[in-house]
Amino acid sequence: MLIQAPKGTNDILPEDIHRWQHVERMFATLCAQFGYREIRIPVFEHTELFFRGVGETTDIVQKEMYTFEDKSGRSLTLRPEGTAGVVRSYIEHGMSSQAQPVKLYYNLTAYRYEKMQKGRYREFHQFGMELFGAADPAADAEIISLLALFFERLGIGNLSLNLNSIGCPVCRTDYNQILREFLSDRIVTLCETCRDRYDRNPMRILDCKEESCRQQVKQAPALLDHICEDCRGHFDALCSKLEIMGIRYAIDKGIVRGLDYYTRTVFEFVSRNIGTQGTVCGGGRYDGLMEACGGPKTPGIGFGLGVERLLMEMESQCLEIALPEPPLIYIGSIGDRAIAAVETMCCDMRRKGISCVKDVMGRSVKAQMKYADKMGTRYTMVLGDNEIESGRAALRDMKSGESKDISLDSLTDRLLKFKEA
Ligand code: HAM
Repeated sequence: MLIQAPKGTNDILPEDIHRWQHVERMFATLCAQFGYREIRIPVFEHTELFFRGVGETTDIVQKEMYTFEDKSGRSLTLRPEGTAGVVRSYIEHGMSSQAQPVKLYYNLTAYRYEKMQKGRYREFHQFGMELFGAADPAADAEIISLLALFFERLGIGNLSLNLNSIGCPVCRTDYNQILREFLSDRIVTLCETCRDRYDRNPMRILDCKEESCRQQVKQAPALLDHICEDCRGHFDALCSKLEIMGIRYAIDKGIVRGLDYYTRTVFEFVSRNIGTQGTVCGGGRYDGLMEACGGPKTPGIGFGLGVERLLMEMESQCLEIALPEPPLIYIGSIGDRAIAAVETMCCDMRRKGISCVKDVMGRSVKAQMKYADKMGTRYTMVLGDNEIESGRAALRDMKSGESKDISLDSLTDRLLKFKEA
């Protein structure tokens, strides 16, 4: 039987890779402009990290992690997101002694055992960013403004920015009680996982994907209406900074986010064009996460942006991304002397930075030219015994159809000039 890619995974084929490379380049450039440095973390971590980092009562930890035992019996988990790993790395490498704030970005794959649908995969790609050490709402505003600029540079016009505050552990204790009271006569209609969450962490019920639970929490009291004075001050300051920056937002009291670590600011950039999985980017503040993972008390804020969803959004808005240039020249060969000469010429040209292709299959010149045509090289040339002896050959411009008789010695310089033009 033919082996296929596992459900929920996707190959990114050469026909598509330019779209990925384009957004990756744009993201890396933007991050550098805001003073962020790239970090790369392992694909798997000790399972315990996500229990502590993401939260034991979240859907991710309870239902979606790819957890396995390695040959030594350690429990390891494929990262379901990037934040916990980056926080672990910050602590492990003593980054608290570096100049603060520490600003990191990443481009990684993440793994969640989720129900497959358009825009929701089991292996997916995230661009992300974490800013450590800054508790001020200016940090929240900067992260959001970076995203707004990213979308603007990509030409994406109409994502809505939805904003909420889910307070701090102080306001949440009171709110949890209010929520329990609201849910007390609805418990029987909740899914089994949420019944367990009722005592342990009722806020998680607000984020459950089960339809029955979603119905029950529609009228639930909003945390934003119950946050403490400090959290309210932080939220109001963020809102006014966004207004000063000209960034439009909507307050959405329903955003709770699917991870336990958030405090205060939570936000999402949502698309109306790409179906039910319209959240292109989600993030927020997590001032208690570093301590929960065993590190020094350090505020943090960041986001994760789904690259598949970003590209879907760009496609839905018909945003064209230029195809990469094919190699500049194909040099065909007829006969052993020409084969040897073409090999030497290609080595020399590549060393000088010219992209060139030649036959590696011992094919007829007709087959070689057919291949060159499919690749779309700008120029072609064919060398045989006559060309080797005379030191001259026809350089064919495939765009104009014109051929020019040139000396082989001048070929590299001509192509270099063309490249620079
Ligand atoms: P998240 O909301 O779980 O947050 O994921 C961020 C983004 O990743 C989502 O908005 C979505 O675009 C994409 N995403 C999530 N799950 C899938 C999936 N199954 N298939 C395709 N795309 C998906 C986090 O992961 C946090 N670590 C974000 C963060 C960083 N908060 C603070 N710092």
